[in-house]
Amino acid sequence: MALPIESESSEKLSRRDFLWYTLIWSGLGASLLSTLAYLRLPAWSPGLEPVVLGVPQDLSLGEVKAFPAYQTWLIRNESGFYALRSVCTHLGCTPVWKSDLTQFHCPCHHSYFDLAGLREKGPALRALERYRLFWGQQGEIMLDRSQTFRRELGEWEDAGAWLPFPRA
Ligand code: FES
Repeated sequence: MALPIESESSEKLSRRDFLWYTLIWSGLGASLLSTLAYLRLPAWSPGLEPVVLGVPQDLSLGEVKAFPAYQTWLIRNESGFYALRSVCTHLGCTPVWKSDLTQFHCPCHHSYFDLAGLREKGPALRALERYRLFWGQQGEIMLDRSQTFRRELGEWEDAGAWLPFPRA
């Protein structure tokens, strides 16, 4: 009769140990993964070096093409191309393009921006920002996220805030 009691006792102890080991190893594993994620973050996220977005023929007039990895929308209008930064100027959420409304809508607090990136309504007080565009050597549309342009500072007319097309 002593055997089952010992067995039950050791089984309870074993379960307790198992739970402790699970807890400890889970914590260590989570810490390790967090550390690895932190150390490898630069390799996972794109840098700010210029990237090719495509060629002019990729977009028709009025079309919006999203590049989520670069937080960018590339838009073509009658004058050429411009790149909007897909970060809400209220508190930094990511708006979505509503093609049926021809608006960018921020789901966080419902700011709306028109196709040009101008604020239409909502708590955001200013327009979306633009990234710099320039022509690549083979006629590609190049994105440079190291430079932004703010409309309220009069920067949307600066070189690079839009890419004239057809080219002069
Ligand atoms: S973050 Fe976009 S409306 Fe608040």
